Amino acid sequence: MQTQLLDAKEPESIRKAARILQNGGLVGIPTETVYGLAANALNGAAVAGIFTAKSRPMDNPLIVHISQFDQIDGLVREVPDAARKLAERFWPGPLTIILPKGNCIPDEVSAGLDTVAIRFPSHPVAQAVIDAAGVPLAAPSANLSGHPSPTTAAHVMDDMDGRIEAVLDGGPCAVGVESTVVTLAAEPPRLLRPGGVTLEQLREVLGDVEMDQAVLNPLPEGQQAASPGMKYKHYSPKANVVILDGSLEHYIDYVNTHAKPGVAALCYNGENDALSVPAICYGGERDCGEQARELFDALRELDDVLHAETVYARCPEPKGVGLAVYNRLIRAAGFEVISLG
Ligand code: TXA
Ligand code: MG
Repeated sequence: MQTQLLDAKEPESIRKAARILQNGGLVGIPTETVYGLAANALNGAAVAGIFTAKSRPMDNPLIVHISQFDQIDGLVREVPDAARKLAERFWPGPLTIILPKGNCIPDEVSAGLDTVAIRFPSHPVAQAVIDAAGVPLAAPSANLSGHPSPTTAAHVMDDMDGRIEAVLDGGPCAVGVESTVVTLAAEPPRLLRPGGVTLEQLREVLGDVEMDQAVLNPLPEGQQAASPGMKYKHYSPKANVVILDGSLEHYIDYVNTHAKPGVAALCYNGENDALSVPAICYGGERDCGEQARELFDALRELDDVLHAETVYARCPEPKGVGLAVYNRLIRAAGFEVISLG
């Protein structure tokens, strides 16, 4: 299959993407978080194609994207007050809400669960495509399963060229990590995946919100994941990533003593000068928004540009949006953290 790269600035591109989706095809689309791999959410066969294109395990459910709040009616059994409050404050935006699912949701979307994940993205191109297609779109991140999520159209082409009908290029993503996922099908509501909307912000609206233990910890052997995506080794580059937790001084010391061919560093802006190994910077030490924006591109570069075998990474502070950065990086590292004291 020939994958067309479409310029999202051209109105004809949006119409083309919409037609492909209406005909049961797959299109890579920009959102404010990461690029999504979209299909008509109401067409089970089209949705099944997403799993094939990504090599995604069938038991990992998808998020359904809408472009108007009212579109949620029918997709879920009911819209509780808590969902309305969250939507008022954070939609459109990087928040996914899990609710008991409505009858029209195909099993392929919910992977057999009785809940469904709904998101109203703020990216104008995502909204335009959903509007033009006239149906909600199921869309996971547009990477091959296990690869870092794509934050540019070029990343999507790297993984999906020849596997899907088209990619809409809408430029780099503003948030850079996937949406925050909160379930309202639990009491109290539970954060399943941190993202651009922070735990602190969710608590301002909902009061009590628990953080699922899978956010910071590996899933114990044999235990069922509240969010099936959490159990897979995610976001992982080919390189073996190790997080070094400690001061900059200790970090520089550790990296330089362990320098040898194949070793690289994932550090904050400006720190590379002090290191005797090749390094990729992923934002300012105090700027977790920038870290979020740059992390996935940095992970891809470590593989594709530096061909690193071992990567020593600076440890993000797990607060605010930094919690999302930490959550992704610790998965990329397979939970390997060395404390430098
Ligand atoms: O920002 C995002 O959310 C991006 C863009 C494209 O919107 N999408 C995305 O989708 O990250 P995906 O499939 O890569 O991640 C969805 C996560 C997975 O961990 C999945 O297990 C979880 O949400 N999920 C989906 N439906 C669920 C459900 N009903 N219950 C629990 N977890 C669910
Ligand atoms: Mg994903």
